[in-house]
Amino acid sequence: MEQNNGVSRRGLVQMAGVAGAAVAGLSAPAIVKGAPDQLKYGFIGTGSRGEYLLKHLKSIDAGRCLAVSDISQAHMDSSAATIGSNPSKYRDYRELLGRNDIDAVLVAVPLFLHFQVTKDALLAGKHVFCEKSLVFKGQEMAELRALVASRPKQVLQVGLQRRYSEFYQTVKSMVDRGILGNVTNMSAQWHRNPGWKMKPQPNLADQKMANWRLYREYSGGLAAELASHQVDVAEWMFGSPPESIIGVGGHDYMFDGRDINDNLQMVYKYPKKQKLVSTYLCTNTHLSMFGGTRTEFAEKIMGTEGSVEITVGDDTQPVLAMWYREPSPPPRVEKAGEKKAYAAGATMVTAGAQKGVPILLDRDKVQGNEGFAEKEMKFARQWLYSKGVMIPEESRNPVDTELKSFLEDCKKGGKPRANIEVGLNDSATVILTNKAVDEDRKVLWSELEGLQKAKA
Ligand SMILES: NC(=O)c1ccc[n+]([C@@H]2O[C@H](COP(=O)([O-])OP(=O)(O)OC[C@H]3O[C@@H](n4cnc5c(N)ncnc54)[C@H](O)[C@@H]3O)[C@@H](O)[C@H]2O)c1
Repeated sequence: MEQNNGVSRRGLVQMAGVAGAAVAGLSAPAIVKGAPDQLKYGFIGTGSRGEYLLKHLKSIDAGRCLAVSDISQAHMDSSAATIGSNPSKYRDYRELLGRNDIDAVLVAVPLFLHFQVTKDALLAGKHVFCEKSLVFKGQEMAELRALVASRPKQVLQVGLQRRYSEFYQTVKSMVDRGILGNVTNMSAQWHRNPGWKMKPQPNLADQKMANWRLYREYSGGLAAELASHQVDVAEWMFGSPPESIIGVGGHDYMFDGRDINDNLQMVYKYPKKQKLVSTYLCTNTHLSMFGGTRTEFAEKIMGTEGSVEITVGDDTQPVLAMWYREPSPPPRVEKAGEKKAYAAGATMVTAGAQKGVPILLDRDKVQGNEGFAEKEMKFARQWLYSKGVMIPEESRNPVDTELKSFLEDCKKGGKPRANIEVGLNDSATVILTNKAVDEDRKVLWSELEGLQKAKA
């Protein structure tokens, strides 16, 4: 039998089946330009992220951009050219919200404006996609929750794109089905070198606006900009926000006028005793996962029977997920009537480190009903993946999936995966992360109540 560091080809097929069963296969998007049922949307905040999202929206035919809004004419002009639908341009976003022919808005303004713009858009009757982190201050949470609850026909989605990744969804299913055993820990890092650079401006007010994420007045710093994605993954995998947070951080290396911390080292504890250890640095990008083939950011999910390393990647490097089985897992205690999640192959290694195998999606899973050639093709792809010659890829970038999903949910009244509760829990964890570091103490989730009531 062919071997792959202790995992047989048959073992890989079993693994593929277990992992892939979790997610309905997505086919490549069919682009039918000018489809009659396109959702009409506007875009508010057309800076770096806005422009990026518009670039992706351009190839998603479920919607049409009728207007853009930004206080910067240059950003509006550039983004209008990017989307190419000849959108109207508004310096005041409230004029865009006043248009009755616009059903939805996407919001990518700086964090300190998320709440106000999202609130105004909901009150104007629009569906809203707002970038993470959803809110800036604890006091904004209750009002936004109540507003969304009072408008059940309007969609609110948060820009946490990992929730829309087939791989992340598969890993979540592996966790829930016990395939990694008892999942006790996660680690995560998002390191940059250097961190964001200050873009100097002639006066301080302009400098602060152009570099808003470097100033605490407007930004939640590394916690809001980077950790928000990874604490969301932990909350999703562990099924709960943390009950306590400790950490150290500092403004230690980057002295260009910024006042945010340039490093954070955090430990989050969850109700079932799981922990997330995560770090955010601006002085080094090395990533020890994936055999050093990626840099900067990834998460590792660890259980008594295996681990998964996963990264969402970017436009040039796709999502990657590797599965490592524990060499000598403790005997599994099956509860009465519980089905085994999978049959462990006789060829599993019994000692020593083992090479990870890529997690496979539905299209690479042998279903049993395919023809000979297709089955052989799937075996061949799996074999190439296991040898590291090919990497399995999502059928669509998760950013495309989150955007298409938003437009479809607006049209059909669907419920977003990254909904208001996901977004508020995520924001709350970000706010408490900064509190733990600022006050140099263990912060409890229960302190949120006081923060929500505190005066702005
Ligand atoms: N999901 C992700 O992976 C991801 C990645 C990057 C950024 N983001 C988020 O996107 C948001 C924007 O980040 P960015 O990097 O694009 O920042 P940016 O500074 O490049 O862009 C912000 C834009 O908002 C505009 N703006 C400011 N005030 C405005 C107002 N009153 N009305 C309309 N426009 C206004 C600015 O002129 C600017 O063009 C942030 O919340 C950030 O956290 C998310």
